[in-house]
Amino acid sequence: MTTTQSATQHTTLHDTPPAARLVLGAMMFGTAVDEPTSFALLDQFVDAGGRWIDTADCYSFWASESGYGGQSEEVLGRWLAARPGMRDHVLLSTKFGAEPRDAADWPASRTGLSAAAVREQLTRSLRRLGTDHVDLAWAHMEDRSVPVEETADACAALVSDGVVARIGTSNHPAWRVERARRHAVGRDKEPFSVVQHAYSYLQPRPGTLTGNHRFGWLDDELVDLAAVEHLDVWAYTPLLSGAYDNPAKPIPEVFDHPGTARRLAVLDDVAAELDASRGQVVLAWLTARGIHPMLGGSKPAQLESALAAMTLPLTPDQATRLTAVDVTSPAS
Ligand SMILES: NC(=O)c1ccc[n+]([C@@H]2O[C@H](COP(=O)([O-])OP(=O)(O)OC[C@H]3O[C@@H](n4cnc5c(N)ncnc54)[C@H](OP(=O)(O)O)[C@@H]3O)[C@@H](O)[C@H]2O)c1
Repeated sequence: MTTTQSATQHTTLHDTPPAARLVLGAMMFGTAVDEPTSFALLDQFVDAGGRWIDTADCYSFWASESGYGGQSEEVLGRWLAARPGMRDHVLLSTKFGAEPRDAADWPASRTGLSAAAVREQLTRSLRRLGTDHVDLAWAHMEDRSVPVEETADACAALVSDGVVARIGTSNHPAWRVERARRHAVGRDKEPFSVVQHAYSYLQPRPGTLTGNHRFGWLDDELVDLAAVEHLDVWAYTPLLSGAYDNPAKPIPEVFDHPGTARRLAVLDDVAAELDASRGQVVLAWLTARGIHPMLGGSKPAQLESALAAMTLPLTPDQATRLTAVDVTSPAS
């Protein structure tokens, strides 16, 4: 079997047990979330059947005293070391490219996606995690100072060297993902086979920026590319940082348009029918669409709620009603 074939013949979302569809985001572990709480959340997650844990070399430089990242991977490394056998049980996902080179000048000064940087950063991640391989590694954010073909080759080499099982892109526009994939496929090398973007039930106003990344939000072109090329899709910030259910956190202004009111009305209807929270219905709706939600909870009850959402009995009719709400036409 060629590397290209192997990349497209992976297990699909619905072949996996419910809890394994949820990705535990470790972004704030070791900074905003202290180490004992991080350990407790990780234990709770695996005890409930969770497998995927997401981190990055740069987590979380903006919340650390030094201005540089690595704390999340270090906490994960200490947790794995304290739990013999755990490394073989969990699936680790990390990213490179966004760590600051000069903390005072981010995002202009960052490690980026050159061949040398990809290798160097991944090697450092493995050291912090205390492992010899990760199950998924991502080009975290675009680096247009480097040909995307160079990044594609460097990432494919991590797979052929056995230090990474699969590779993905995060915050890249569809055309760059496709360009990198064509380059790899044409050379019979491992192509990017997963995309990671911000996504949720509410949709932002066209032309607005939802975060740090110009191509951060999962747009229709990426959805189409993923469907046609059988790419997995991971969604970050699916709960809008808690805004669906926490009255202290308003829905961000970029979602301020008539479609949001219509979507929230149907979301509330379905949540009432299922005796669930808005956030749980959002996570169940994403999963029903074949998307892996990534949860960044900071409290055991939040994680419990997200895990329960993976078995929420959302019916096809409810999923269709949710999806059918037009987010762009004028209010009726
Ligand atoms: N590729 C990228 O560029 C990128 C960017 C961002 C994130 N990510 C990944 O995605 C993961 C998740 O991202 P995120 O933390 O932004 O997503 P999120 O899950 O939408 O937000 C997490 C926050 O939501 C709140 N929350 C969670 N469950 C809740 C509940 N049941 N009720 C009320 N509030 C709840 C908590 O806030 P409080 O702590 O205030 O209670 C929690 O810290 C990260 O850990 C990271 O791995 C990737």
